[in-house]
Amino acid sequence: MTFSPELEARFAKLLESYPPGRTRSAVVPMLLYAQDEVGHISNELIEEVARLCKVTPLQVDEVVGYYSMLHRKPLGKYHVQVCTNISCLLRGGEELYEHASKQLGIANKQVTADGQFSLEEVECIGACSWAPAVQINYDFHHLVTPEKLDALVAELRKAQ
Ligand code: FES
Repeated sequence: MTFSPELEARFAKLLESYPPGRTRSAVVPMLLYAQDEVGHISNELIEEVARLCKVTPLQVDEVVGYYSMLHRKPLGKYHVQVCTNISCLLRGGEELYEHASKQLGIANKQVTADGQFSLEEVECIGACSWAPAVQINYDFHHLVTPEKLDALVAELRKAQ
């Protein structure tokens, strides 16, 4: 499997930053960077990361299964994660998630037909003080109301 020259260079730099025999530590960051470029974690990608980090594909597959931010299926261009954990739950997180599901027309871990949005109900994303919180790709949104979420989605649709 080949990646962009930029990502290949990033991987090379990453592998150099670990002591010899410790390249397995690069598995998680490498999977995240690769997922950003490719869109999801395929078997081919697992094999390539295993080869680069000198571990077995099974070890990489176990890492993928453990971390919820690593996805085996393609996500939407914008991955909307709505927290429904305790702080957000107490401040309308569940209603917000239901609203997002209705507005986008998709259920948990589904992707819109146009591939633009995916939705996920998630555990705490570390923004409890500003509940309810939503994360879209790498951007955090605090004190989100259904109206604010609609505005965010409309803005992203316009940006396409
Ligand atoms: S409980 Fe939602 S961000 Fe912590």
